[in-house]
Amino acid sequence: MARPAALTIDRIGVSFSGFKAVDEVSMIIEDGELRVLLGANGAGKTTLMDLISGKTKSTEGRVFLYDTEITNRQEHEIARAGVGRKFQIPAVFRDLSVRENLGVAATGEPSVLRNLRFGLSKAKLDRVAGIVELTGLGDVLGKRAGDLSHGQMQWLELGMLIAQDARVILLDEPTAGMTQIETHKTSRIIRELKGKHTILVVEHDMAFVREIAETITVMHLGKVLAEGSIAEIETNQAVRQAYLGSGGIH
Ligand SMILES: Nc1ncnc2c1ncn2[C@@H]1O[C@H](COP(=O)(O)OP(=O)(O)OP(=O)(O)O)[C@@H](O)[C@H]1O
Ligand SMILES: [Mg+2]
Repeated sequence: MARPAALTIDRIGVSFSGFKAVDEVSMIIEDGELRVLLGANGAGKTTLMDLISGKTKSTEGRVFLYDTEITNRQEHEIARAGVGRKFQIPAVFRDLSVRENLGVAATGEPSVLRNLRFGLSKAKLDRVAGIVELTGLGDVLGKRAGDLSHGQMQWLELGMLIAQDARVILLDEPTAGMTQIETHKTSRIIRELKGKHTILVVEHDMAFVREIAETITVMHLGKVLAEGSIAEIETNQAVRQAYLGSGGIH
């Protein structure tokens, strides 16, 4: 039998006091795929991620992680099942060093003191070394996470998701507030992850989207409006219409 998709979203939806923020959205994201989610402000992109990660409970539809149904499970259960999410305000331990943060993430051990006492296995050390290389955090391993630059803090959080071995990674506007150079580096990191992790990324910065995109899903008013390659999306009449008056796809 063919390997199941990493994420199968089947007619998921939620209403807030009668308003359908996400309305019968279906998506199939293959194992190792990098999917970009586009849509104007208020289209329902963040709410869709909230539904996948269990932050918001759906009122209709189902979500599967590989062949396990995760619909409306507790947030921490979904995280433990392998769905990692990067937040706007990074969930790093600000008072720990970069190295310690990665160590905590790699061991999956919430007790920081225990991690420090027992250290990491060879396999986990190798893993962390790979992440340090990928994220370019080698020069700041001893630095307190709270003292990192904005970009470094985002890369650390991404590194922690990788260290946790999150099979599916949800990224909501990962380049927000980044300089052009930082944005470029972020796109390089995300492209490196493709194939090893399954990634769903919401992004407004079209230069960034062009750098990373394979398949794009466009949401509008809570629904899927279009799905396809960047060329298909940019020439799609419905997408052009939906973006009129909201700044457009640049
Ligand atoms: N908890 C909530 N209660 C009520 N309405 C909500 C709630 N969460 C989201 N909404 C509404 O649902 C709609 C979709 O919001 P959402 O944040 O998902 O959009 P988005 O596509 O992420 O937009 P943006 O690009 O601005 O981040 C909006 O109209 C928003 O006001
Ligand atoms: Mg949003």
